[in-house]
Amino acid sequence: LNIPSVYQTLSDYFPVGAAIWQGNITGPHSVLLTKHFNSITAENDMKWDALEPTEGNFNFATADALVNFAMANNMLVRGHTLVWHNQNPSWLFKDANGNDMQPTPENKALLLQRLENHIRAVVGHFRGKVYAWDVVNEVIDPSQPDGFRRSKWYEITGPDYIERAFRVAHEADPNAKLYINDYNTTDPVKRAFLYNLVRDLKQRGVPIDGVGHQMHSNIAWPSTADVIATINLFAGLGLDNQITELDVSVYTDSTTSYASPPQDVLIKQGYQYRDLFRAFRYLKDEISSVTLWGLADDHTWLSTPTRLNWPLLFNEQLKAKPAYWGVVDPS
Ligand code: XIL
Repeated sequence: LNIPSVYQTLSDYFPVGAAIWQGNITGPHSVLLTKHFNSITAENDMKWDALEPTEGNFNFATADALVNFAMANNMLVRGHTLVWHNQNPSWLFKDANGNDMQPTPENKALLLQRLENHIRAVVGHFRGKVYAWDVVNEVIDPSQPDGFRRSKWYEITGPDYIERAFRVAHEADPNAKLYINDYNTTDPVKRAFLYNLVRDLKQRGVPIDGVGHQMHSNIAWPSTADVIATINLFAGLGLDNQITELDVSVYTDSTTSYASPPQDVLIKQGYQYRDLFRAFRYLKDEISSVTLWGLADDHTWLSTPTRLNWPLLFNEQLKAKPAYWGVVDPS
């Protein structure tokens, strides 16, 4: 059976990527990956805990293996992620005495220096290979009055870490495209906070190229109308948009659990992928890449031992699902 390549089918529109780990760059997974995708993101291997497990000691081995695979196969690489509140090493938020950092001027200076050191080393290392970076990830929390997530970053530095991260990343690789990445960007309240932040950054001359929309979705959400409104909103600021972590959960609530995916649910998922990619193609001048958060259903962050999920284009046997057909056959 010779099915069409996803990225070749969409070559008039945008590159199509997958989030990967080491197990995807050998054997049958690597064959599937290179056939259907022309971009990759490291699912975990470029996060702070992976790259700088102890201060000043960088471990690029696994990330380099993924990047070298991509280069050898003419694939783009998105970098994910420089600054986040998760998957950080424990030393990062310890003060000079090894205690948990409290918000003091000394600790603010120390933490911003660590941020600068990390970004210079990482972006410098991948310079010319990683074309786009998720510079900051998930900094918006719409439940806060000012919209800023109360992370350790915010607690110690206020919003200053965001601007600093973009400025340093741009210095380290002036050619890299720089994104602010977040989930639920179609939510009107969250979207408004994100909009005000990026407008403010742009006004102050901060080097930001665009917004990364994670787009962790499900079979009934979001609507294409909300996707189109969201992308057009940010495009109106002169910003690029990338879909960075697309997947479509088979669940619309947090309690349902299937032992195996019902066929009617897989069909619904196929229609949701079709509808989302219709919107993305319609928005092709505003969206410069679309990345799936995984290659096949045998490896997805949405599956737990007690609650499986099947959110991607290919099943556990690496066979095309209705979701795949929704992407390549928009009729
Ligand atoms: C997830 C990975 O997929 C998991 O393997 C890991 O255990 C936790 O992180 N938003 C993001 C991604 O920006 O980095 C997250 O990736 C998924 C949610």
